[in-house]
Amino acid sequence: MRLAKYLAHAGVASRRRAELLIAEGRVTVGGEPSIDPARDVDESSGVAVDGKPVAIEEREVWALNKPAGFVSTARDTHGRPTVTELVSSRRRLYPVGRLDADTTGLILLTNDGELAERLTHPRHGVEKVYRAHVEPRPVGEPALRQLRSGVELDDGQSAAARVRQLEPGLLELTLTEGRKRQVRRMCAAVGHRVVALERIAFGPLHIDRLVEDGRRLGEGESRRLTAAEVERLRKPRVDPRRL
Ligand code: URA
Repeated sequence: MRLAKYLAHAGVASRRRAELLIAEGRVTVGGEPSIDPARDVDESSGVAVDGKPVAIEEREVWALNKPAGFVSTARDTHGRPTVTELVSSRRRLYPVGRLDADTTGLILLTNDGELAERLTHPRHGVEKVYRAHVEPRPVGEPALRQLRSGVELDDGQSAAARVRQLEPGLLELTLTEGRKRQVRRMCAAVGHRVVALERIAFGPLHIDRLVEDGRRLGEGESRRLTAAEVERLRKPRVDPRRL
């Protein structure tokens, strides 16, 4: 397997981040530095990062109903609580994409760098659905049309999105991109401020259907996805039914 893929599989980092680690000369194979991300390696090759041996570990994917106030990084330099603290896995997991600290709802955590990449890269078109309460209410038809066709943001135009107004001032937006504070910036661009934001679906997973012991995951609760759920996450375009 390619070195960069091997590191991603081992849960060291996403594929892109693994390529950076390799380029930085932090990866050795059999004790020798290797800067070739395409180099063929396996478990017997003696791959190490910063001198620490890398072993392929069992892959896990967890779903968390994120409460407000938690940051979606594995560790926070300002000492704020992180989403990883809400998942009781003994593996080192990292969040799949980001939600703002004040955004609630569905976030996935995994040690599977390949899958994380698949789920977040816009090329794969994985849909994320958000519910946004905005002010002022309601949102007029011209603003809705603009949100649907794409609005000008400081990092470029947003892609086409599905947008419905469920009730005055409550929008449901389906996006395939995951840019920083995207929903908040899109709404601001058409003159509305997001006062509460929840992600309700990620690919085939819907927060209302992620039940455990017959009840919906409450805020702050998480559970490991089953093998069947992970399989459907890997192929969301083939079978778009929500779990
Ligand atoms: N868009 C945002 O503005 N914030 C999030 O947390 C997610 C999507």
